Amino acid sequence: MAFPESFIKELVERSDIAEVVSAYVRLNKRSGSNLFGLCPFHSEKTPSFSVSPDKQIYHCFGCGKGGSVVNFIMEIENLSYPDAVRFLARRAGIPVPEEERDVNFSRRERMLSLNRDAARFFYGQLKTPGGAAARQYIEKRGISPAMVTRFGLGCAPDSWDSLVSAMLKKGYTRAELLDAGLARASKKGGNGIYDTFRNRLMFPVIDIRGSVIGFSGRILDDGEPKYLNSPETLVFSKSHNLFAMNLAKKSKKGYIILSEGNIDVVSLHQAGFDCAVASLGTSLTPEQARLISRYTGELVLAYDGDQAGQRASQRAITLLQRLDIRVRVLRMTGAKDPDEFLKKFGPDAFENLLRRSEGHVEYRLADLAAKNDLKTDTGKVAFLKDAAGLIAGLPSAVEREVYARKTAEMAKVSGDAVSAEAERIRKRLVSQARKKRESESTRPARLLQPAARELRFENSRSAAAEKGVLRLLYYEPALFTEKRRFAQDDFSSPLLAKLFAELYGGVARGEQPSLAILSERFSQDEISVLTEIISAPVELSNSEQALGDYIEIIREEKLAMQHKRNSDAAELMKFAQSKLQRKGGYRG
Ligand code: UTP
Ligand code: MN
Repeated sequence: MAFPESFIKELVERSDIAEVVSAYVRLNKRSGSNLFGLCPFHSEKTPSFSVSPDKQIYHCFGCGKGGSVVNFIMEIENLSYPDAVRFLARRAGIPVPEEERDVNFSRRERMLSLNRDAARFFYGQLKTPGGAAARQYIEKRGISPAMVTRFGLGCAPDSWDSLVSAMLKKGYTRAELLDAGLARASKKGGNGIYDTFRNRLMFPVIDIRGSVIGFSGRILDDGEPKYLNSPETLVFSKSHNLFAMNLAKKSKKGYIILSEGNIDVVSLHQAGFDCAVASLGTSLTPEQARLISRYTGELVLAYDGDQAGQRASQRAITLLQRLDIRVRVLRMTGAKDPDEFLKKFGPDAFENLLRRSEGHVEYRLADLAAKNDLKTDTGKVAFLKDAAGLIAGLPSAVEREVYARKTAEMAKVSGDAVSAEAERIRKRLVSQARKKRESESTRPARLLQPAARELRFENSRSAAAEKGVLRLLYYEPALFTEKRRFAQDDFSSPLLAKLFAELYGGVARGEQPSLAILSERFSQDEISVLTEIISAPVELSNSEQALGDYIEIIREEKLAMQHKRNSDAAELMKFAQSKLQRKGGYRG
């Protein structure tokens, strides 16, 4: 099952971590020998995700995630250890040792190839007599042949088994079709299966690497459900992907247009706006926002004009701003969505809309104004209060001034009053934030703990020393060659003891410790703990002394803990006895 260690070593050497990570994260800051960028694993505005080209590790000071290049791929591509290894091997052009590939051919690879074949099948169906209805629908919606090709549109024929039988013929199994969500098991039982998608216009969903990961199928009339999407599978997660991101990422526009519908996206691309994407029928998720932030710092929201669309806009703005993406909002009049707008008014009118699109502050102010009746005093007061709160949150003083004046104009009051109110709220926000930071920094014990809850350390002083020992073992295995006076039995943390045992085993066999190899036996959270340990600076000059000190602390704490446990037990006994006595006394 395991890959040969020499293979993993070679793989890691040929997969430079900075290069691999750069495909996902903009690493645009340098501090010492480390590169920094926005963490792809949690939402943040200031970069705390570091990559060390020297140590070939990544570590996020914010969320605590870390590891080798293999862990990074496991985490960001959501792959198992062996699949991440295969992924990197393909990237580096190194063959994966044979026997491994045969015994455990990746299910993921199979599913991707099945999806690709299914997409080809749907595309091919458009040219057959069975594709007539879909062809008509495409024409009716004004979708050009060029767009059909660019998006790989296709059709699922009006039949129960055309995809199933075509794919079985290609050698895929029933189980594989079910797993991929392309077929469903018949109610009648037996091993009968039938096509999930029937009589629909098919949109393949393609990820940023060009793999077909799922499908979205639109009905050809007014029936329900309007769209049928692939279920969540090994390779498809709606919340992590955006329709057409594979195309939009190549756009030269410098911004992304986010709309609601697949059809809107196709129309936008057809009209030359090749930077349009859509979230797949969900409101924008944090993961999708992060995906966008990898490619652009500017986004135009082109959601539908209805209530639902406006609410979704508000939520999206909040998410995107958190990632420092500049958001503008398109206000369409005379059409409910971009598709209809383009059909009615054409690309130039849309370009005009884009130019006039409001920054998110104007948009929110207009929204607040619409919510309140500015002709009444109570309406005015409510509007001014909300607006001042909004303005107080703006980081730039100039911006605050400009929008305070604008708000004042809207409510027909003096600008100074709005400014003063906004500054008052701002002072409160700033001091709240400062207090929060202070209370965090005075709780260092908490910060010493790993991010994952199940990994809490019972004794943080001992754990710190145990980490010190591990760090030395990692960087100076020579210190540990002679039989040491202590074993990992003295460790207070089972996890650190296990890490020590694994690392020490390798060292005893004369190997260099390697995170990538350990990753096969440890969870991602555990590897993150080890990464945090080895990313701290190590003082190698007096390592002998340091090791002695660490061992002493671990011993001391072990004794203290034993003592505490004993006295806890004694305390408990005393308590139980006193209870018994009282009970006796009460009765007598
Ligand atoms: P819309 O109903 O606006 O669809 O839903 P549309 O793509 O704009 O199609 P037309 O122009 O009305 O024909 C927006 C998106 O929501 C998802 C789809 O991704 C769709 O593109 N959706 C919609 C579903 O997932 N399921 C549904 O039943 C409806
Ligand atoms: Mn729509």
